[in-house]
Amino acid sequence: MARLVTLDSSGASIAGPTATLIYDDWYPALRSKRLRSNSLQTAMLLDLPLVLGRRKDGRVFAMRDSCPHRGIPLSVGWFDGEHVTCRYHGWEFEPCSGQCATIPSLTSVGRLDATRIYATAYPCVEKDGYAWVYIPGAGAGRKLEVADLPPVPELAKYSDKYRSAHLTADLPCNVDHGIIGLMDPAHGPFVHQAWWWRSRGSIREKTKRFEPIPDGFRMAAHAPSGNSAPYKLLGVYGEPVETTIDFALPNRRYETIRCGSKWFTSLTTVTPVTASTCRIDVVAAWNVFYHVPLVTPIAKFFGAKFVRQDQVTMIQQAEGLRHNPSLMLIDDADKPAKWYFALKQARLDGGRSGEGKHPMDGPVELHWRS
Ligand code: FES
Ligand SMILES: [Fe+2]
Repeated sequence: MARLVTLDSSGASIAGPTATLIYDDWYPALRSKRLRSNSLQTAMLLDLPLVLGRRKDGRVFAMRDSCPHRGIPLSVGWFDGEHVTCRYHGWEFEPCSGQCATIPSLTSVGRLDATRIYATAYPCVEKDGYAWVYIPGAGAGRKLEVADLPPVPELAKYSDKYRSAHLTADLPCNVDHGIIGLMDPAHGPFVHQAWWWRSRGSIREKTKRFEPIPDGFRMAAHAPSGNSAPYKLLGVYGEPVETTIDFALPNRRYETIRCGSKWFTSLTTVTPVTASTCRIDVVAAWNVFYHVPLVTPIAKFFGAKFVRQDQVTMIQQAEGLRHNPSLMLIDDADKPAKWYFALKQARLDGGRSGEGKHPMDGPVELHWRS
């Protein structure tokens, strides 16, 4: 197996600068197609080891990968589609609630009621091909009612028929660097140089209008960069092309491109795996060129190339960040990054009710060359 980019040459997790993490929100743990009954999968989210699976009835679950008895990972135990059984002393747990069903060592004279014991289970929902897990903050108590939680993020689809694809890449930097790398407009001509996308020589001045949205900001509907090839392709439909890009806490970038009845949408998330590493996940859906053969593999190929270019750059950046240099954010190209840090601080200070502390007081135009 290829070495993980988030591990150093000795196999240890890269311990670059850490980021503060946002709890009490939904994060994608892994592709839900990997979850089948009778098997357990592991994932790490926000430094929490998780064990995930799918019950016989189809429901997905996520538990802390640690037996409440003596801490052995539950993932090394057994799963029969109904109960997770710990490999050490055989305690059995219902995985959606975490409730203990059986403690094999108990006798009829024992007084302990096994069903009063719980392993830690997290709200887990399958959507857009991911198992989304809600990670509560320390001391938040048990939260399992999905109806009481903020909605699970969802990719917009504008027709019944569409195609979709997923991409993922581990990044050896903390989630803040992953996110500001994602929203940074100025790296495009340098990192994503390619004949089919754009070249350095195509740099030109851009003016983009941004407006505040709850928990984030929107790059308002506009005709997309005339200097990038994929958008030119959409021109074949001969209708005006409009694109909107939203960023919303804690880590989501939604892109919507519409051209008459044709559309392309994507949801990109940058998820903290540990405090110093993260993972980028992209799910995209489209009905453009629906009937053209090979569009999905071609789109995946170019999408993967694009994500790989960001990944390679961030691997190089991690090398530099190891030595904790001081950094800077400049106007206007890094203004979205500044908004991100301010929004994040407001969330950390005031939770979701921290409304009113939005860093933008209205629409604003930013200018940069890219
Ligand atoms: S450690 Fe899990 S049952 Fe004892
Ligand atoms: Fe990029």
